[in-house]
Amino acid sequence: MCGIIGYLGPREATPILLEALKRLEYRGYDSAGLAVLETGQQTTSLTKSEAKVDLLIEKLWGQAPSGHLGIGHTRWATHGKPTTVNAHPHADCTGRITVVHNGIIENFAELKAELSAAGHEFLSDTDTEVVPHLIEQYYRGDFLAAVRQALQRLRGAYALAMFCLDDPDLLVGARLNAPLVVGLGEGENFIASDITAIIPYTKRALILGEGELAAVTALGAQVSTLDGRPVEAKIVHVDWDVSQAEKGGFAHFMLKEIHETPDAVANTLRGRLDEAGNVHFAEFDVPSERFRTCRQVLLLGMGTSLHAALAGEQLIEDWAGLPARAIDASEFRYRRPTVTEDDLAVVITQSGETADTLVGLNLARARGALSVAVTNVVGSSAARDADGAIYLNSGPEISVASTKTFIAHVVSQALLALRLAGGRGRLPIERRQELASSLRALPEQIRRLLQSEPDIARLAHRYAHYRNFMYVGRGLGHVVALEGALKLKEISYIHAEGSSGGEAKHGPIALLDPLFPVVAICTESSTREKMISNVHEFVTRDAPVLAVVSEGEAELQGLATDVLVIPRADELTSAVLASVALQVFAYYVALELGKDVDHPRNLAKSVTVE
Ligand code: F6R
Repeated sequence: MCGIIGYLGPREATPILLEALKRLEYRGYDSAGLAVLETGQQTTSLTKSEAKVDLLIEKLWGQAPSGHLGIGHTRWATHGKPTTVNAHPHADCTGRITVVHNGIIENFAELKAELSAAGHEFLSDTDTEVVPHLIEQYYRGDFLAAVRQALQRLRGAYALAMFCLDDPDLLVGARLNAPLVVGLGEGENFIASDITAIIPYTKRALILGEGELAAVTALGAQVSTLDGRPVEAKIVHVDWDVSQAEKGGFAHFMLKEIHETPDAVANTLRGRLDEAGNVHFAEFDVPSERFRTCRQVLLLGMGTSLHAALAGEQLIEDWAGLPARAIDASEFRYRRPTVTEDDLAVVITQSGETADTLVGLNLARARGALSVAVTNVVGSSAARDADGAIYLNSGPEISVASTKTFIAHVVSQALLALRLAGGRGRLPIERRQELASSLRALPEQIRRLLQSEPDIARLAHRYAHYRNFMYVGRGLGHVVALEGALKLKEISYIHAEGSSGGEAKHGPIALLDPLFPVVAICTESSTREKMISNVHEFVTRDAPVLAVVSEGEAELQGLATDVLVIPRADELTSAVLASVALQVFAYYVALELGKDVDHPRNLAKSVTVE
């Protein structure tokens, strides 16, 4: 989720670009850069920094390029480490065409091979760099025509801003599966990844639709499809201030990030899963042979990431038929664990910097295990230390409470389980296809679920006065229960514990009374009947029961005190949907209690000490 800005108008572009990049840093700050067409000099000045925008400002101090057309970028790395060469903008071989990009070009490897064979020279490890070279390949003096031809060959997700030295009065933007807006000023115009960047300059914006392209001059913008059909663009008036704009109009980052989950999941899946259920990880390209001899999978993590590890444990055992163990990394490091060269150690960490998880990773490596870091941060310590990496590609998560990245972690575990199953010749092809299609349908299912946000908010209002909660589930529903309880306690400070349905009657059930509600996960699963029996036990103890159920569920209506209904789906999808629903529930409970949702007390986003 990188930040993009483009400017064309009578003012000096450099200060405007730098100021906008500062405001866009919340979208990522691995590295930054800008390109300005220097007035009168017939050159494009390109400046990059391998760190935050402040370093870029320092580099440009006293030597800012002078010009009226420019593009800038602040990077959240996906393909290629956060280094100066990988920072955007990227240029073609001649330096005429410059491009900034947010998204992932799925077919970049094949395009790069084709362009290299045609003589193009690549400087970076990024997927983005194929774009200027592809445009160069088609360029015959008409920049817009070359852009149209090039973009028709790209698969994946892109929001692009670009210009060509030969066209000093033209700034071009295009989007597919990633947002892009055109800011309409007085005699000047902008292109940006989001409204935050342009808010001090204009309140009028044109929202680009999927697969559309904007040809922007200082006086206006023309929108068309990639094949050149004109489009009637929608102009909106934005009343947000900068802080509202950063949150996309949501009251908190947590809620914004919950709403980003469909895109986060799509990005985790992007380019990795084919229709037959085969999975390919570019940065963890291990021969299947290695998985055939694998003895066990160790999954290490902390907090929410440990819960994702618990989901991975079940999926890997079930689909790949491999013994798998999810382990609290802080405990693992002080044990004398049985790890051998035949094991696979999977470390699950959003930040890639959690101290206990890193020590666990290095302990497993020291004992010879093959290791892979599943992380959201390219170039993080975990990604550097492990033998391979599986990136979530979810974009930065700012709220301390993890939401979209938990779901992306669970999805990445499903991909890993499918990869291991494929490598070990497990799962019939029909089952693999079925799982692949249900994973692919997830983003849409989550969008559907989020339409019931007002109903979930009403339930939160009804339950917010309780001081204790028990969350109960079985199988993947047990993971949902543990994570649901953690989400509630960390942002609302209400005591909540998670239990398996079977375990409840071995102790936890003693806590129940009319002031101790149970959140029971009763969605689609092979143990749903057992959960219904559990609900009977809870009701008998006079505990209020909020049952999370699939659409059309009749048995629990009238038995549970309340029901939270999610779309009907298979077991894995139901677990994901129930988790998202309980994130929304926790959010509204905390809101009701007036808590500081994005900055819960005593917690930090990344725990880099033991
Ligand atoms: C809870 C939460 C934490 C983290 C934990 C591990 O919402 O975010 O429990 O999951 O601190 O962090 P990472 O995943 O960065 O290793």
